[in-house]
Amino acid sequence: MGCVKLLFFMLYTVLCQLAFSSSLCPKDQALSLLQFKHMFTINPDASYDCEFSHPKTRSWKKSMDCCSWNGVHCDKTTGQVIELDLRCSELQGKFHSNSSLFQLFNLKRLDLSYNDFTGSLISPKFGEFSSLTHLDLSHSNFTGLIPSEISHLSKLHVLCIWNPSGGLYDLSLSLGPYNFELLLQNLTQLRELALYGVNISSTIPSNFSSHLTTLELSDTHLHGVLPERIFHLSNLKTLDLSYNHKLTVRFPITKWNSSASLMYLYLYHVNITGRIPESFTHLTSLHDLDMGYSNLSGPIPKSLWNLTHVEWLSLSYNHLEGPISQFSRFGKLRELYLGYNNFAGRLEFLSFNRNWTQLEALYFSSNYLTGPIPTNVSGLQNLLWLELSSNHLNGTIPSWIFSLSSLTYLDLSDNHLGGKIQEFKSNTLSHVDLRQNQLQGPLPNSLLNQPLLTYLLLSHNNISGQIASTICNLKTLIALDLGSNNLEGTIPKCLVEMNEYLWNLNLSNNNPSGTINTNFSLENYFRVIRLHGNKLTGKVPRSLINCKSLTLLDLGNNQLNDTFPNWLGNLPDLQILSLRSNKFHGPIKSSGNTNFFARLQILDISSNGFSGNLPISLFGNLQAMKKIDESTRTPEYVSDQFAGYYDYLTTITTKGQDYDSVRILDSNMIINLSKNRFKGHIPNIIGDLVGLRTLNLSHNVLEGHIPASLQNLSVLESLDLSSNKISGEIPQQLVSLTSLEVLNLSHNHLVGCIPKGKQFDTFENSSYQGNDGLRGLPLSKHCVSDDQATTPAELDQEEDSPMISWQAVLMGYGCGLVIGLSIIYIMLSTQYPIWFLRLVVQLEHRITTRMKRHKKRY
Ligand SMILES: *[C@@H]1O[C@H](CO)[C@@H](O)[C@H](O)[C@H]1NC(C)=O
Ligand SMILES: *[C@@H]1O[C@H](CO)[C@@H](O)[C@H](O)[C@H]1NC(C)=O
Ligand SMILES: *[C@@H]1O[C@H](CO)[C@@H](O)[C@H](O)[C@H]1NC(C)=O
Ligand SMILES: *[C@@H]1O[C@H](CO)[C@@H](O)[C@H](O)[C@H]1NC(C)=O
Ligand SMILES: *[C@@H]1O[C@H](CO)[C@@H](O)[C@H](O)[C@H]1NC(C)=O
Ligand SMILES: *[C@@H]1O[C@H](CO)[C@@H](O)[C@H](O)[C@H]1NC(C)=O
Ligand SMILES: *[C@@H]1O[C@H](CO)[C@@H](O)[C@H](O)[C@H]1NC(C)=O
Ligand SMILES: *[C@@H]1O[C@H](CO)[C@@H](O)[C@H](O)[C@H]1NC(C)=O
Ligand SMILES: *[C@@H]1O[C@H](CO)[C@@H](O)[C@H](O)[C@H]1NC(C)=O
Ligand SMILES: *[C@@H]1O[C@H](CO)[C@@H](O)[C@H](O)[C@H]1NC(C)=O
Ligand SMILES: *[C@@H]1O[C@H](CO)[C@@H](O)[C@H](O)[C@H]1NC(C)=O
Repeated sequence: MGCVKLLFFMLYTVLCQLAFSSSLCPKDQALSLLQFKHMFTINPDASYDCEFSHPKTRSWKKSMDCCSWNGVHCDKTTGQVIELDLRCSELQGKFHSNSSLFQLFNLKRLDLSYNDFTGSLISPKFGEFSSLTHLDLSHSNFTGLIPSEISHLSKLHVLCIWNPSGGLYDLSLSLGPYNFELLLQNLTQLRELALYGVNISSTIPSNFSSHLTTLELSDTHLHGVLPERIFHLSNLKTLDLSYNHKLTVRFPITKWNSSASLMYLYLYHVNITGRIPESFTHLTSLHDLDMGYSNLSGPIPKSLWNLTHVEWLSLSYNHLEGPISQFSRFGKLRELYLGYNNFAGRLEFLSFNRNWTQLEALYFSSNYLTGPIPTNVSGLQNLLWLELSSNHLNGTIPSWIFSLSSLTYLDLSDNHLGGKIQEFKSNTLSHVDLRQNQLQGPLPNSLLNQPLLTYLLLSHNNISGQIASTICNLKTLIALDLGSNNLEGTIPKCLVEMNEYLWNLNLSNNNPSGTINTNFSLENYFRVIRLHGNKLTGKVPRSLINCKSLTLLDLGNNQLNDTFPNWLGNLPDLQILSLRSNKFHGPIKSSGNTNFFARLQILDISSNGFSGNLPISLFGNLQAMKKIDESTRTPEYVSDQFAGYYDYLTTITTKGQDYDSVRILDSNMIINLSKNRFKGHIPNIIGDLVGLRTLNLSHNVLEGHIPASLQNLSVLESLDLSSNKISGEIPQQLVSLTSLEVLNLSHNHLVGCIPKGKQFDTFENSSYQGNDGLRGLPLSKHCVSDDQATTPAELDQEEDSPMISWQAVLMGYGCGLVIGLSIIYIMLSTQYPIWFLRLVVQLEHRITTRMKRHKKRY
């Protein structure tokens, strides 16, 4: 009897276990999941940022218990679906408010991160998952306002909503200030909050969950004063408030309650005020510290020296000073970023430093380092990333650098380094920048056989030898800059035929000769081609028509003998074309096709043998020049351009680092047709090119009158019509050109009175000399009658009136020229001003730190 009972009992428990362990999921929930699955397509690109992505929903089959589906977890006792983990699942499509997912009321964890729901808003229905403890909608391209209903989720422990940020001002998600307060106050169980890149635009309330371990709010437009309470959260591990430059941070003087727990403190570009207090010394767990771009100055704050256990330290973009040898105290460093400060001294300490054997990244750019890089360094074997650019280092590049076996990123540009480039031991180089030094000798073979090299930048050195076709082995190159060296030979045919990614090619100012005997392949990404200042002969290769993305083509200062390559007008993005100082000849015939040269902003074909009339139909085509960018009328336009520039930069930084912008020239419109043999009249149509800032038609054989239509060029800064045969009077209307800073009408046959007023009161004699018939100020010949028939009495009066100081007028009327010139300088040279570099490096910092942090999250 007892045995039967026992048997029954055993059978019962086995059956129970069977039932529970298989936990058949409710039919309606399986159906909801299947409906959800069918709303999306599978596309690996949707999870491009994942190390491993997998289309989990593929395994979802009606025939199987949904609790066994990939990414689905059910409650062991009730069988309800309580967890859905679709991170990195390659889902693509719109996520609608009517999604069947919202029927899974019992979800406790929901992870939809690293998919692509482009164009989807975050539905208020997310607020109905009242049991949720984890919600992750990051990196999935949700956009718009985060609904206030999220704050109903009062059991949440983890909330992550963010997108990988494009530009600095690209905030695709937002959270109203009120909702932020609501969220922080109602989610009393919150442990982790990650909202970076979300436009919050708020202060941080001081009463939030005391359980917080992770607060990631970088780039969220926070302002006001950071509540001190945050530092006293005794479980806080990660605090990231970077890129909130209006957020004022004052550290507590007394020991923080988070001192023992805090591991990651990121305060890049926030408003740190007051001293770095003693209380810092208690941060015994600190692993990463970023206080870059935070207005720190003077010697390193004392308390930082106690943090010798730190592994990742960034103090870049401050005004810190002192010898750098002191940093070898930090014996656990993996990455050290000290660029853009005032650190001085020599790198000698590296030679006896055994403390940095774990160091992977060393960034000392733009400081005041002097002397040679020491030769006997052995403690840095693990270096991957070495940047010492823009210092005053001299001597040769020591062998140990070439021997680093894992080196991937090397930037020693803008120093005084000489000697040869030796063979590299590493075969993982991706970025090599040695520009602006005094390096000699040929390119080493090892450099030309790197399987991963994307940037090879060696311009402004004395590198010699042939441009060998072995350079075509570099199949991953994005930018090749060998400008201003002593390279010889011909341009290797294979260079443009084989390379798949090459985006920027600069071989300017070398000695290659011969024809540009290459065939640009149909599929190419060239944006910038600079072959300026060589000895190239022959014609412009017709295959350039395949470079559909070309924005800049500089073939100036060669010996090309061709007619005007009007067919280049087919390149839809061409913005800058220079053919100056060659042997181009013949009349310029242009097609009536209004899309031709539609984006051209700079046309320089000066110093050639072009003849015939000025190209009226070409002028008619230049659509980009027929507009004035209103935002650039004011002197602040450089900062306006930063915004646009960021966008441009980031679109290409996805492939790596950009260093050569074209977009920045948005407002610079230049036509230079000087030193040719153009004849005939200046056509009225030039007055349509209202965006022009520089017009140079000098040294031709133009005749006829100056067209009054030039008065429409309201942003013109420089007008040069000198050394022609132009006759008639200077149109009075030109007085309206209030931006004009440079005027040269000399050596023509102009007559009559020089107009008076505004900018015309600032030009000097040299603007007019060599015109026998011109009279009036500033020439010594008095103007007897101008076109308003001034009486001699009136004239005397005018002459007696005090001259306006020309500097004052310049300040008043002209604003753009200097700025414009400096920007052109950036474009046409390879030396970039500091603000530009800062911009690039800042962006790089942003991207690399972001990437790192994302990696950490895995
Ligand atoms: C959900 O709504 C979208 C548009 O709002 C519609 O296209 C779609 O058919 C709807 N789906 C279901 C299952 O109702
Ligand atoms: C995100 O959306 C933007 C457009 O809104 C799109 O250009 C981009 O490719 C999308 N990103 C991903 C990862 O799908
Ligand atoms: C705060 O959470 C509670 C549940 O704990 C909820 O009833 C209430 O609506 C939430 N308040 C707001 C403003 O979201
Ligand atoms: C936070 O403070 C506000 C007033 O500043 C108060 O209304 C709210 O109830 C507080 N919330 C919590 C969770 O303490
Ligand atoms: C951010 O949000 C605030 C108000 O919520 C708004 O004024 C501002 O324009 C937004 N900024 C951006 C860049 O979207
Ligand atoms: C930075 O903080 C100081 C001192 O609190 C304040 O005067 C200044 O206005 C703040 N700057 C910004 C940009 O918020
Ligand atoms: C810091 O911790 C101590 C002891 O746990 C506690 O009494 C104090 O209130 C905490 N300070 C803050 C500001 O939370
Ligand atoms: C910080 O370092 C100084 C000098 O090395 C030492 O005297 C002091 O005790 C240290 N402070 C802490 C909290 O470790
Ligand atoms: C190396 O690190 C240790 C411990 O941090 C320190 O005492 C020593 O001075 C360091 N060595 C150098 C050369 O800075
Ligand atoms: C390097 O520069 C220092 C001055 O900083 C100078 O004394 C030294 O002679 C230079 N060495 C070489 C090799 O040019
Ligand atoms: C250009 O080439 C033609 C022949 O193709 C030749 O007759 C002419 O002299 C050349 N012009 C110059 C300036 O070299």
